[in-house]
Amino acid sequence: MASERSFEDKTLLVTGGAGFIGSNFIHYWLKRYSRCRVINLDKLTYAGNLDNLKEVDKDPRYEFIQGDIRDKKLVKKIFRKVQGVVHFAAETHVDRSILDAGEFVLTDVFGTFVLLDALKDSKVEFFIHLSTDEVYGSRDKGHFSEEDPLCPSSPYSASKAGADRLAYAYHKTYSLPIIILRPSNNFGPYQYPEKFIPLFVTNALEGKPLPLYGRGTNVRDWLYVEDHCRAIDLVIRAGKLGEIYNVGANAEIENNVVAEKIVDFLGKPKSLIKRVPDRLGHDKRYALDCRKVRALGWKPEWDFEEALASTVQWYQENQIWWKKIKEKSRDFRSFYEEYYRRR
Ligand code: NAD
Ligand code: DAU
Repeated sequence: MASERSFEDKTLLVTGGAGFIGSNFIHYWLKRYSRCRVINLDKLTYAGNLDNLKEVDKDPRYEFIQGDIRDKKLVKKIFRKVQGVVHFAAETHVDRSILDAGEFVLTDVFGTFVLLDALKDSKVEFFIHLSTDEVYGSRDKGHFSEEDPLCPSSPYSASKAGADRLAYAYHKTYSLPIIILRPSNNFGPYQYPEKFIPLFVTNALEGKPLPLYGRGTNVRDWLYVEDHCRAIDLVIRAGKLGEIYNVGANAEIENNVVAEKIVDFLGKPKSLIKRVPDRLGHDKRYALDCRKVRALGWKPEWDFEEALASTVQWYQENQIWWKKIKEKSRDFRSFYEEYYRRR
């Protein structure tokens, strides 16, 4: 194992910390490192939610800055105050990218460029770039290793692939201290209820149909967000600069199986699951070879069934949190359904 970097008493910039994984990571980090400090830079798009961070709001070690990662002046100013960066901020929903890709290119590609460029003139000691397993594209059999070529197939994953390669280029060209992570599908508390698991859980709780795309046979590798946060932590401490690490749980499951487990946990009828037209260009399966991150000493601690049960319980117990969001997000869902009806 590489010698470990100690980061406990330094200041970390988290971009997109008001989103799903970013907020889980901030909770994780503040709990784990008592002497750390965290600056959260988030634009608060529709996906950013300060309710995710209520428990740490008054923590003197935590500071929130509402701002855009594309704001060069602001980013440069913040980079002078921090020693490490974990870059989560992005547009992240594949369905939205199919309807309108513009913000994906502007945030995921250009926004990442602004951060990387600021890194050039800074004393920041490491920059963790959150890419995604979707950059490899889909495959029916076998697993993608970090050496495999990228073949993204949605406007979202293509934008993420652009950002991923830019991050690599900035390491290679300027020897900047960058590490790229390519995680699989995360789930857990605070996930915006437009994504598969929280949408299905909350719809089931409301007695509404669960819209399963196509035949429901697409496969995702489900990673519990807490396990993902532990992987990021380990990579910060022991990951090799300039390297790429796949992070998956080896929990490959078809969507229809996940949907049935959700209704079973909630004691709802299977008839709530309704097949709807398939997502355009829908990737069949993502699957990662994670030997490299495992060699650093990481493995998932949560079993999928237990993590799903715990997640379902969290949405049962936090109805105010998601009902507030769903009230506001109705527009997107009806726009999306109308788009597919018209095709
Ligand atoms: P999310 O959509 O829940 O949160 C994104 C956050 O970024 C929001 O708080 C939003 O306000 C903020 N943001 C967006 N544009 C911004 C901008 N221009 N400036 C500042 N802040 C901005 O996303 P997530 O699911 O937590 O994903 C976090 C990261 O991890 C993303 O880079 C995503 O591509 C990657 N990732 C996610 C998953 C997953 O399953 N959720 C899996 C692999 C990789
Ligand atoms: O693989 C990592 C990626 O996982 C991340 O990079 C993305 O940010 C994240 O959104 C996620 O992308 P997916 O497209 O895999 O996730 P989503 O939750 O949108 O869909 C998961 C699967 O469920 C996919 O096969 C599509 C299907 N689905 C999704 C929704 C929203 C449905 O069947 N019905 C739905 O309503």
